[in-house]
Amino acid sequence: MVEAKNLVKIFGKGASVFRALDDVNFQVRVGECFGLLGPNGAGKSTFIGMTYGSVKKTSGQVTVFGLDPQSESRSIKKRLGVVTQENALDESLTVLENMMLYSAFMGVPRDQRRRRIEDLLEYMNIAHKRDALIQTLSGGMKRRLVFVRALLGQPELLILDEPTTGLDPAVRHLLWGKVKELRSSGTTIILTTHYMHEAEVLCDRLAILNKGKIVAEGSPQKMISDHSPGYVGIFKSEDGAKVRSLVKETTTHVHEDSSGVYLRVPTLEKMTSLVADHSLNPAQIRPSNLEDVFLQLTGQELSVDA
Ligand SMILES: Nc1ncnc2c1ncn2[C@@H]1O[C@H](COP(=O)(O)OP(=O)(O)OP(=O)(O)O)[C@@H](O)[C@H]1O
Ligand SMILES: [Mg+2]
Repeated sequence: MVEAKNLVKIFGKGASVFRALDDVNFQVRVGECFGLLGPNGAGKSTFIGMTYGSVKKTSGQVTVFGLDPQSESRSIKKRLGVVTQENALDESLTVLENMMLYSAFMGVPRDQRRRRIEDLLEYMNIAHKRDALIQTLSGGMKRRLVFVRALLGQPELLILDEPTTGLDPAVRHLLWGKVKELRSSGTTIILTTHYMHEAEVLCDRLAILNKGKIVAEGSPQKMISDHSPGYVGIFKSEDGAKVRSLVKETTTHVHEDSSGVYLRVPTLEKMTSLVADHSLNPAQIRPSNLEDVFLQLTGQELSVDA
């Protein structure tokens, strides 16, 4: 459905050249939800811009529906729904005017436009704003509207660039529900998100992009078992200091943030005996998750191999 081969994007010239995508290779298969994860500036939105021709590649290949986005962006856009990172709504129109215009652009039959718009506005809980000017909507309402807009054309491929940023938890769950429903009915989805739980819940496969390069790929479960297997204990204050000295003695992985020191060991038994042997009092013990994988692969975890 979407394929990148040796894809390179270089921004700038001379001394200020910057490789936003550096030899990127991956495939998104028909019917799957594919997550593209990575820190700020990793190149996610740059890739997404390339799928519909708004960003030009420097070298390599990218195809969408087997088509080249640089020469065939019109045909691609007819089959694509996109939630861009920036909302790009016409602020001077009302919600309904905006959606009617977009439906027309997407070739939705005239007699189906209003129904389809109303159904989606209802679903995303913004039907009561149908006659409001876009400029009077809250940030989260605009975000919901951009999601509605992306679905109007009943696209074969839905690309979501941080779709839930700025959404409250209830609306985030609504959006997840819709994404799951679309996936079950065969829509192919590409999702970028900084919420690892979201990626774990929605995606069949993921790629982690770091500084323009893919550093890992696979199902969420495979990523966890390949890169960060085991259990994580979170320790605060004096226990945190104890754990820091402990990692010098054991083969473990640890990182630290404002909520404490994170220690990862291969099994729950190992964690339990460590806790007992050193009289530790963990704030939490949990299975390793995608966030642990992310921190490790993007260089934000301190790995200590003793
Ligand atoms: N038009 C541009 N000109 C120059 N540099 C650019 C341009 N667009 C993006 N970049 C650079 O390319 C890199 C990748 O940006 P991109 O927007 O793809 O990151 P991202 O992974 O989407 O990050 P975020 O999570 O913050 O949205 C960044 O360093 C950014 O500054
Ligand atoms: Mg981005």
